[in-house]
Amino acid sequence: MPILTIESTCDETAAAVIAANGSVLGDAIATQETLHEQFRGVVPEVAARAHVERILPVIDTAIRRASVTPNDLDAIAVADRPGLAGSLLVGVVAAKTLSVAWNKPLVTVNHLHAHLYACQLSSESTVYPCIGLVVSGGHTSLYLCHGPLELKYLGGTIDDAAGEAFDKVAAMLQLDFPGGPAVSKLAATGNRKAHSFPRSLIHDPKDDFSFSGLKTAVRYAIVGPGQQDFSKVSLSPQVKADLCASFEAAVVDVLVSKAERAVKRHQVKRLIVGGGVAANRYLREMLTKSANTNDYQIVIAPPEWCTDNAVMGALALEKIARGEFASLDLDITPGLQRGF
Ligand code: KG4
Ligand code: ZN
Repeated sequence: MPILTIESTCDETAAAVIAANGSVLGDAIATQETLHEQFRGVVPEVAARAHVERILPVIDTAIRRASVTPNDLDAIAVADRPGLAGSLLVGVVAAKTLSVAWNKPLVTVNHLHAHLYACQLSSESTVYPCIGLVVSGGHTSLYLCHGPLELKYLGGTIDDAAGEAFDKVAAMLQLDFPGGPAVSKLAATGNRKAHSFPRSLIHDPKDDFSFSGLKTAVRYAIVGPGQQDFSKVSLSPQVKADLCASFEAAVVDVLVSKAERAVKRHQVKRLIVGGGVAANRYLREMLTKSANTNDYQIVIAPPEWCTDNAVMGALALEKIARGEFASLDLDITPGLQRGF
């Protein structure tokens, strides 16, 4: 029987109905881009309030699209970690309420593990064992994955996530929100060598990342060293494109080089990549190139399953198969610490 999956960890309200074999019967996503674009970043309180308004209609839409009734469902799954506290709370409370009202068992999924599971969902054979790279708005992490639920955290960002850096650079250049797609579009017409931005920790033997120095370097390239005021700066489209291209090259160099090294060190044959930044065309191109050159297989989540969605919550099926259910005293785990 199918399951209902609910995702509300950040600023997308999403639900899906997934068949027991993993196929998607119906899904729905309500994005909040227009609510946050005036702030050029996700405002947690605004996100939580919007989830409250949207969650029931989104669940209803997913169920209708799947042509099932609540009676047909086997379980209700929800992403309970990591994420924004207020956002997580809305999904978890909705899942608990429906679990009681419909008398269905409750299952939790880790949102980051689900981002990686999107790769397994799109692959015909097993992707394990492999190295997993999650690149999202809140996280940049490497894992050694022996199975969908057997993930060992190897390292992650010690400051900003890759997606956060894309969003901040877009804000500095007064581009659209979310920043990733906007920066990527401009970068395609820019010179990747126009600026030699820092590739922090690229040669560090640990699997950690750092993108805050890169953000600062871009800021100084725009306003001048030590300056803060963007209001007096007016840049031509080509100058903006060169900044975006050079910034994107720095992020991608670090991500590809550290992921490639982890694959070699752990002697696995495969790299899987998920999260919003994995939708980036240049990153996808350079990862594919690295895989071809270094003789490993690459599985990148399909672009529509890179950014937040409830389909990747199909990971819950793996937990159900093991009999791992949650109880009604389930609480959220925002997971602000590293190592998640
Ligand atoms: O996984 P996601 O939807 O949400 C989190 O779990 O954080 O990732 C959102 C992030 C945002 O920072 C957004 O700018 C970035 O993914 N992103 C991209 C692209 N599309 C989305 N970054 C670079 N290039 C893209 N094409
Ligand atoms: Zn995400």
